[in-house]
Amino acid sequence: LDQLKNPGDFVSGSFIGLPYMVGRDHEGRIQAFHNTCRHHAARILPEGTASAKSLVCPYHGWTYSLDGKLIGAPRMKGARDFSPECFSLVPIRTEIWGPWVWICFDANTAPLSSSLTELEARLPGASLERLHFHSRRTYKIACNWKVYVDNYLDGGYHVPVLHGGLTSQLDLSSYHTEIFDRFSIQSCKGRPSSTQRIGDSALYAWLYPGFMINRYGPVMDTNWVIPLSHDQTLTVFDFYFEDITSESARKFIAQSLESSEKVQQEDIWISESVQGGLSGPAYDRGRYAPEVEQAEHHFHRVLARDLAAAVNTP
Ligand SMILES: [Fe+2]
Repeated sequence: LDQLKNPGDFVSGSFIGLPYMVGRDHEGRIQAFHNTCRHHAARILPEGTASAKSLVCPYHGWTYSLDGKLIGAPRMKGARDFSPECFSLVPIRTEIWGPWVWICFDANTAPLSSSLTELEARLPGASLERLHFHSRRTYKIACNWKVYVDNYLDGGYHVPVLHGGLTSQLDLSSYHTEIFDRFSIQSCKGRPSSTQRIGDSALYAWLYPGFMINRYGPVMDTNWVIPLSHDQTLTVFDFYFEDITSESARKFIAQSLESSEKVQQEDIWISESVQGGLSGPAYDRGRYAPEVEQAEHHFHRVLARDLAAAVNTP
């Protein structure tokens, strides 16, 4: 929402091959559309953020208002039965939850917020409203998206082994996992001696299938896991801080981003290592560690349920 403050602000991207755009129109309404021109299917806005007065296709100049209506179609004179009102941009369902606009390509799925009541209690709006979007970092990883999600959901199992730097900031004996229908929460206390970054406690929420919310101290980062192919994954980190302007904040943010970068590089390295092992003949399946890997097991059960339902749908 921080990126969609003013009329004409747009964010566009693509999700599993589907180009989308989300923006605010002149009346202040937030809407999302398929980022596909109704004339010849070209992408209208480039990926990223934009501030637009209208939406002009770079191919033949078809022009849409901020609320998706076709308002300009050059050289269409003489086209029989051509009604511009039938060529509005195709809308995508949106929902606002927390500081985010969520889009949904399925018209029949239940609203997201109906399944997140418990998470809302743990991530109160007031604490989220204090945060400001700072920056985005993206990483392309040579692994299946599930490998990366598994790594996130192992209940801190890998933290003392793989992340030496992070371990010193967390009281790993307090690590615990709570399972809900379509999300899970892992949380952990910060070490009293730890830096300001983690603070008293860290909360790691995972929303099925691939959105992670990491909340600690004056910091939140989100990590959106997007499958690119069976063995390529894009992870999109967005960083939020309570203070993004003061001199001391800039130093804190730089340290925080550096620390996050180190953890991410370690997670990328291990995820690519696992992908290599999965592709080889020596591995079929492993075992869950019941003390810690509950959230991972939950992920696999929800996914298996959805895949079974999809396979059984004619
Ligand atoms: Fe990790």
